[in-house]
Amino acid sequence: MKCLVVGSGAREHVITGALLRDPEVESVVVAPGNAGIAELVKCVPLDVSDPVAIGDLATQLDVDLVVIGPEIPLMAGAANALADRGIACFGPTREAALIEGSKAFCKEVMAEAGIPTAMARVCTNAAQAQDALDTFGAPYVVKDDGLAAGKGVVVTADRGEALAHAETCFEVGGTVVIEEFLDGPEVSLFGISDGTTVVALQPAQDFKRVGDNDEGPNTGGMGAYSPLPWLDEGVVSEVTKRVLQPMADAMKNRGTPFVGVLYAGLAMTTRGIRVIEFNARFGDPETQVVLSRLLTPLGQFLYSAATEQLADFAQLRWEQGFAVNVVIAAEGYPVKPVLGVPILGLEMLEADPDLSVFHAGTTMNEGKLVTFGGRVLSVTAHAPTLALARERAYEGVAEIEVSGSHFRRDIALSACSTEA
Ligand code: AMP
Ligand code: GLY
Repeated sequence: MKCLVVGSGAREHVITGALLRDPEVESVVVAPGNAGIAELVKCVPLDVSDPVAIGDLATQLDVDLVVIGPEIPLMAGAANALADRGIACFGPTREAALIEGSKAFCKEVMAEAGIPTAMARVCTNAAQAQDALDTFGAPYVVKDDGLAAGKGVVVTADRGEALAHAETCFEVGGTVVIEEFLDGPEVSLFGISDGTTVVALQPAQDFKRVGDNDEGPNTGGMGAYSPLPWLDEGVVSEVTKRVLQPMADAMKNRGTPFVGVLYAGLAMTTRGIRVIEFNARFGDPETQVVLSRLLTPLGQFLYSAATEQLADFAQLRWEQGFAVNVVIAAEGYPVKPVLGVPILGLEMLEADPDLSVFHAGTTMNEGKLVTFGGRVLSVTAHAPTLALARERAYEGVAEIEVSGSHFRRDIALSACSTEA
């Protein structure tokens, strides 16, 4: 099988590595990729927001499967363009990706499917927003309706700040979703869907705020671990039954079946499971700790999802133990990352079989590896216990030098005390 992977982050780096481990995968090309991916396979330039360019590249490479990593090409219609050419694509059409592209649309489908989620109101002006804020009370949750790379959500005790965020969105003609605050630990669960059948992967937890103890602004994600020692065993099958399968069914009934990753962001509240949001793709950095432990051949698995044959993959195989991922972010991230800063120390880690450094915002400049994005590297360690995996990940981070960079020091920390 010949594969094309679209994207340039650590998520695409781990996907590429997993595809290469599948004996049925003959070759992988990544577009546009990054400096780390380029060490594994051929990378070619691509404007990922251009579905025609993606279709042309897939045709030219004569691939059997295209795996789309990020949301931008999905929302732009990459899967639609590939379907028109008869090329198998792992990733939803533009219409199905709307579960991520519009929070208001997602809420509508969840309501229709009876999926447990926060009570919410869609607002288009300040009067509606004020009324919604007062109905739900503090802490206030205000979400920009459209795509915002995890940065369009404000959760605050300050009513003025909540209203100001809503008004900023209204000024550019936007819509906001204001909703009830959900209290409780968060879980990310990926359901692989072929449009009909859904197979859940193992759960992960992501750390979205930039600073330790969940302080500071939201980011794309600063670290993750999987599986979750504190999560009851029955939760994955409960979420599959009450959240993932109903979502797939609802999308199919609407005539826009969802093929790809149904990413459920969940809050484990005292009143039960609630969906915080759906994304239409693998999460980053969760993918680094989930797919790196999957033993089932990824190429065959994703191809079966792209071709409506997922029922063959009901039983997945997993590596024992735990994975912990720590993201090294460039100085200034998430506001304005400093680019072009040298990245040193990686060669020290290459020989360690339990440690993987997935690249995100990296590039080569005059023969030197330098920063090229906000999240620079994603250091992932595997070990028999969560505590050991955590220790190993931080040992790896300590070897790497990127001037001005920062990382969270508390990834998976509190979960270690819940290990048996
Ligand atoms: P989203 O983009 O919807 O995932 O939101 C980003 C982050 O904001 C989530 O991971 C949560 O930490 C937080 N958040 C979103 N919605 C809520 C909510 N209703 N209650 C509490 N926190 C929320
Ligand atoms: N880690 C959060 C996301 O991928 O959206």
